[in-house]
Amino acid sequence: MNTILVGAQWGDEGKGKIIDVLTEDADIVVRTQGGNNAGHTVFLGPKKYILHLIPSGILRPGKQCVIGNGVVLDPVGLVGEIDGLLKLGIRVRGGKRGNLVVSETAHVVFPWHRELDGLREQRKGSKKIGTTKRGIGPTYGDKTARVGLRVVDLIHPERFEVMLRERLKENNAVIRALGGKVISYKKIREEYSQAADRLRPFVANTVVMLNEATQAGRRILFEGAQGTFLDIDHGTYPFVTSSNTTSGGACTGSGVPPNRMDRVVGVMKAYTTRVGEGPLPTENAEISDLLHGMGREFGSTTGRARRCGWFDAVATRHATMVNGIDELAITNIDGLDTVKEIKVCTGYRLNKRILQHVPADCEALARCQPVYTTFPGWLEATHEIKRFRDLPERCRRYLDEICRLTGAKLRIASVGPAREQTMFL
Ligand code: GDP
Ligand code: IMO
Ligand code: MG
Repeated sequence: MNTILVGAQWGDEGKGKIIDVLTEDADIVVRTQGGNNAGHTVFLGPKKYILHLIPSGILRPGKQCVIGNGVVLDPVGLVGEIDGLLKLGIRVRGGKRGNLVVSETAHVVFPWHRELDGLREQRKGSKKIGTTKRGIGPTYGDKTARVGLRVVDLIHPERFEVMLRERLKENNAVIRALGGKVISYKKIREEYSQAADRLRPFVANTVVMLNEATQAGRRILFEGAQGTFLDIDHGTYPFVTSSNTTSGGACTGSGVPPNRMDRVVGVMKAYTTRVGEGPLPTENAEISDLLHGMGREFGSTTGRARRCGWFDAVATRHATMVNGIDELAITNIDGLDTVKEIKVCTGYRLNKRILQHVPADCEALARCQPVYTTFPGWLEATHEIKRFRDLPERCRRYLDEICRLTGAKLRIASVGPAREQTMFL
């Protein structure tokens, strides 16, 4: 059984928590796109783990984790994450018996990518994307322009030094022209060589490994990062990330073909959030203030306050379409426990017409006014409820309705960040 898990909204849907839960029934967990712009939170008892590059499956003993070819990898960041996990009691090891494998063809993030990310944002001024400044866009840009360095280049010192020198020359010229801070060859060579030495035992041909594993009947879980509306093709361009966050990205980013995939699970919050700029039709101050007041909805990677809004069924229905979502996991249901009247967006009003789909043009989306249906709140705490049938009737009705509107089957309901606060249907 191979499962692709995707975010059905704008990222931060609670994918980390659901991946951790689903890892119990998987042998291998793979990241296939994005980089350390992601922040996936998992709680084990009182301990909080935030994974950026390493698949969330790493927290379960005996599971193998893979960073696939579609990921952009910051080697210094990855070494830091491995050391950070060790401090929290999780050993990450390479080699035959290890629990982490890194693709030799994943592209490498360099300091000039981060510098350019920041400079471009600065120059855009009020039109900025609100990136995580992790260099993700410039790294994927180099990949597509066929001038990127890959992990296999990083771990071969002689080749690496030549390529580094050449790339740095061009990038420093660009940085200088944009008024940024030029980057020292010596410093990068030292830092990246040290990271390469640490990472060498982890590096392998993950495409062959994953296909052999599939043939041997091992169960793979593909851990999506970001969310559908941050997809470079299907999101609210240009306010998106630079990878395919939708289900197709799991195939290209791993080398496992579509006909080996068995199901697609979409994760969504019971409401909507977005961090960074760009349209968010159901954005609403009342729900934002409520959630922030409870200390919720601050970014796991940058700490920025997330923008919040009502559940947008037009968007999630679109997500079902482009991802082929079979099953839904709804998280953060408890976030609505104290709301008297809950709104759900069922259509977009644009130029006196009611749309049932997300317009492809981001400027049109920004002008859409949500059409709402209102549901009575359940006004009861749900944190401790263990079975779906024990949820308040109004809550069940709300969940059934948002799944019906989204067009997929409800499979998991989550009422808190912990493993135990999860119900299966
Ligand atoms: P991801 O990027 O999709 O993995 O999501 P993040 O980890 O960035 O953000 C989701 C936040 O919601 C994290 O703080 C989780 O611990 C938290 N979370 C996940 N599911 C639930 C839930 O059902 N209830 C509550 N209260 N928090 C949840
Ligand atoms: P997870 O996996 C939410 C957003 C940024 C910005 C845009 C582009 O935790 O859900 P980038 O740095 O990728 O070039 O930024 O994408 N973004 C995310 N928002 N969750 C994420 O990851 C995100 N990764 C990137 O805020 O708007
Ligand atoms: Mg996140």
